[in-house]
Amino acid sequence: MEFETLRLAVEDGVATLTLHRPEAMNAITQRMKDELGAALDAVATDDAARVLVVTGAGDKAFCAGADLKERAASEPTPAEFFFRQQATHRLFTRLEQFAKPVIAALNGAAFGGGAEIALCADLRVAAEHARFGLTEVALGVIPAGGGTQRLARLVGPARAKELLFTAARLTATEALALGLVNRVVPSDRLAAEVRALAVAIAAKPPLAVRFAKQAVDKGLQADLQTALDFELYAAAILFDTEDRREGMRAFVEKRTPRFVGR
Ligand code: COA
Repeated sequence: MEFETLRLAVEDGVATLTLHRPEAMNAITQRMKDELGAALDAVATDDAARVLVVTGAGDKAFCAGADLKERAASEPTPAEFFFRQQATHRLFTRLEQFAKPVIAALNGAAFGGGAEIALCADLRVAAEHARFGLTEVALGVIPAGGGTQRLARLVGPARAKELLFTAARLTATEALALGLVNRVVPSDRLAAEVRALAVAIAAKPPLAVRFAKQAVDKGLQADLQTALDFELYAAAILFDTEDRREGMRAFVEKRTPRFVGR
């Protein structure tokens, strides 16, 4: 599939979606948002893609947030702003709720909307030189792509408020200490480490991975008893899959399982 602002490639069960505007630090334009929606459609329906990796072109930026030149050139009314951002919310929520696991490979600065995209991923792996920040307050606005909520849920309200109020630009190590990224790797190892992680997840039974994701995400939004019930329903559905039979049979027969996603 051809895009102007993205690159999409599928290999070894891993779809890699690259935000591709290196001349502008991969900043998000309306065109990029439209293309992101189309790219997610393509990955969602591609059985060869079991894991989605999102990264940025080049080694300077994952994504420097909204394209501030495009933003500065428009003066939307509050109602226009509301409906435009509502569409962005829906796009980012789609990424967060993507049925397949999503890894953000932070290859440089992830600021503003770039950090918000990263927050929608299930896992974040950062290069040593990466930076992370919801920097909008420095510009007189606040995150409007879900960042205030996802950040607070990940690191807690007090830490989230400090980061938001100060528009902090964290180093990868600082982000790791807050639990904002799963791991930090040497910059020249980022692609290889993310690939190994993605391939390892892609080799697992896809339905089990998907339901594990849903159990965590849906459970965190529900009361504990409802969440525990959801876990059981998901486990019960999985018990009747070919992959569950294959997984257990392969263990007994001391061989590597072959999972088919059914
Ligand atoms: N929107 C549009 N263009 C952007 C951009 C953005 N968010 N971020 C960077 N660019 C452009 C710069 O304008 C510059 O273009 P130019 O060469 O035509 O002037 C180019 O990308 C390179 O950026 P530059 O700032 O020169 O590179 P740098 O290596 O010194 O710094 C960043 C990189 C990411 C640290 C810096 O660009 C930055 O802080 N960007 C803004 C981040 C931000 O506040 N995002 C929140 C948006 S709500």
